[in-house]
Amino acid sequence: MKLAILSRNGSLYSTRRLVEAARVRGHTVRVLDPLRCYLRIAPGGFAMRYKGKPVAGYDAVIPRIGTSVTRYATAVLRQFELMGVYSPNPSDAILRARDKLRAHQLLAAQGIGLPTTVFGDNPDDTDDLLSLLGPPPHVIKLNEGTQGAGVMLTEKPAASRAAVEALRGLYANFLVQEFVAEAGGADLRCFVVGDRVVAAMRRQAPDGEFRSNLHRGGQASPAQADAQEQAVAVGSARALGLGVAGVDLVQSSRGPLVLEVNSTPGLEGIELACRVDVAGAVIEYVAGNISC
Ligand SMILES: Nc1ncnc2c1ncn2[C@@H]1O[C@H](COP(=O)(O)OP(=O)(O)O)[C@@H](O)[C@H]1O
Ligand SMILES: [Mg+2]
Repeated sequence: MKLAILSRNGSLYSTRRLVEAARVRGHTVRVLDPLRCYLRIAPGGFAMRYKGKPVAGYDAVIPRIGTSVTRYATAVLRQFELMGVYSPNPSDAILRARDKLRAHQLLAAQGIGLPTTVFGDNPDDTDDLLSLLGPPPHVIKLNEGTQGAGVMLTEKPAASRAAVEALRGLYANFLVQEFVAEAGGADLRCFVVGDRVVAAMRRQAPDGEFRSNLHRGGQASPAQADAQEQAVAVGSARALGLGVAGVDLVQSSRGPLVLEVNSTPGLEGIELACRVDVAGAVIEYVAGNISC
């Protein structure tokens, strides 16, 4: 197949590995910077150009879209879709996953377990809103945060109220959740490709930290997702329409709960921790969907 990888930087680990995995399987692959793709939109005539030349003849595109370019890059991806190019993660699915509020609504509607979450706008409603969750600790997170930045833990009602007021003052969109203390600062990243968890790693937050993100000093170790965790991870990716996803779960006393579904999951942490060819699994999945 002729494959495009939409990525701002061809030297990033994930991009390099996808290129490598495609080449060893005999595919033609090119990395395109989404911000250098420009689009012609007209009825019956969707076209795209890149650095002065037409973008044409691709069978598939793998989006690796950073949060800072979501809007532009999903428009480019949508143009690929309108030109008949297959993407394992369609533009609408990426937009669903990036918006935590929307993703939580869609997952809960499918009966997928999540930490109970509240959302509200008016300051007059803050006390009642927080009372829907029960007493603190609460986790307050920015709707479009990533890598653990913008995720806070509040231990007292006054701290929850103050954090909510501060975020409102900044016109930020945020969610407030029950804190899953039983997780003990650990979560399970399940890398989903199609209807399979191809690799999983446990991430443990350092002492004194509840966020297990590797960017916050979390330690990764290989793990095996059990049947229930696999079903929740695969079901979450499917509920959002993602063929490739990183689904983060925490273990609670009522079973696995989904924290987040990442539509551009990094390959470096999981490949190095698990010694699994995750890039190869992604390429084979994409190639399999083209040929059928
Ligand atoms: N409700 C919660 N209860 C316990 N820990 C949480 C909760 N929400 C988030 N965390 C911890 O914080 C980390 C980051 O939260 P997450 O929602 O994944 O935001 P981000 O998109 O910034 O990674 C999680 O990996 C988890 O370790
Ligand atoms: Mg996360």
